[in-house]
Amino acid sequence: MEFSLSATQAAVQQLARKFADERVAPLSREMDEQGAMPLALISDMAAVGLLGGPLPAEHGGGAWDKVSAALCYEELGRVDSSVRGFMTVHSSLVAQCIQQWGSVEQRRQYLPMLISAESIGCYCLTEPNAGSDAASMEATAVPDGAGYRLNGEKIWITNGGIAQLAIVFASTDRTLRHKGVGAFLVPTNAPGFVRRKMPGRELGHRAADHAHIRLENIYVPVDSMLGGPGEGFRVAMSALDHGRLGVAAGAVGVAQACLDASVAFARERRQFGQRVGDFQMIQAALADMAADVEAARQLTLRAAWMQDQGLKSTRATSIAKLFAVEAAVRAANEAVLLHGGRGYTNEYPVERYLRDIKGLQIYEGTAHIQRIVIARDLLGKDTVP
Ligand code: CAA
Repeated sequence: MEFSLSATQAAVQQLARKFADERVAPLSREMDEQGAMPLALISDMAAVGLLGGPLPAEHGGGAWDKVSAALCYEELGRVDSSVRGFMTVHSSLVAQCIQQWGSVEQRRQYLPMLISAESIGCYCLTEPNAGSDAASMEATAVPDGAGYRLNGEKIWITNGGIAQLAIVFASTDRTLRHKGVGAFLVPTNAPGFVRRKMPGRELGHRAADHAHIRLENIYVPVDSMLGGPGEGFRVAMSALDHGRLGVAAGAVGVAQACLDASVAFARERRQFGQRVGDFQMIQAALADMAADVEAARQLTLRAAWMQDQGLKSTRATSIAKLFAVEAAVRAANEAVLLHGGRGYTNEYPVERYLRDIKGLQIYEGTAHIQRIVIARDLLGKDTVP
């Protein structure tokens, strides 16, 4: 068993850490207040090689392994969940999905543009009546000549308002449930692709772009299908194996940020004539947080390593997402409490960590769904008819 990072993995970690600290951190509070991320930041992520990091060199990517990608997501998540979320959707849910399922032509056409940020990607699965129960989707793909007509409604689509390319999941036969789902590569300037901002103001991830999308009789040629007919649900689920690893790593970053902020505060803040960190109740909270961070990181890196080895990793990835996010929820709750009144304002970043982490508990499969995935893998299918 080897716990140290390779030189390449350590270099990716350093690159992402530098970008997060120097380029993202100074903007985080302002982005959170303004509810938007500058497009220049996305171009910069591409320019330093982050967006294409997890993709193959033949298309201009960095050919990182999954461990490196997880280290990158942890560093970005430590500083800003909106920026980490942008990259997880763009690079993992969309680009890696095209890498895995796309034809040679589709890979050649789309991957270089996604790597350079000429094109931003979004992943359109969730619908008003199909959130956790993704296979019950109502969007349809009806054959029409040499293609399909897409109709339906998608919600909570991260990057949806700024994307040039969407992976859209729609059913060619709703009676077949998951076996009737197709995945389609759809340019967002296609006639009938109608998008607007999600209504309301989000609790966290306020700099992220969340769109409501209507598919109004969009025509797509048959060669825009990703994977084969009826394979769309597998395409969606396997993409979530990539995406959920990114979310788990992002949660490790949030938990680490809570620990760093809490240690700094416990050293500096004095009450009753001593540092608050000298009280045993505070020490216990910090020690529990540190243990949680380490456990979450090891589970996440192990899931990444399993993906690198080509091992079946769905259960390990769900365990990592479940544990890391719950650990970060505990850490964020404690961090706000430990900061007292200061933690309750955006003068300190811990209130943002608490608001953001609730999103990770919900998207790319809620904590309940992760438990279902894990339990099904433990129990197997009921073989009694
Ligand atoms: N990889 C490949 N195939 C998989 C798979 C995986 N990880 N997981 C399941 N499958 C396959 C199964 O093998 C099965 O195929 P067969 O019938 O050929 O054997 C098929 O998919 C159906 O599997 P299930 O019977 O388990 O399907 P289900 O309908 O019971 O649902 C579920 C399972 C786990 C609950 C799934 O619906 C799920 O993950 N739901 C949560 C959806 C989700 O995460 N949504 C968030 C979307 S992204 C987002 O939040 C917004 C954004 O912008 C990023």
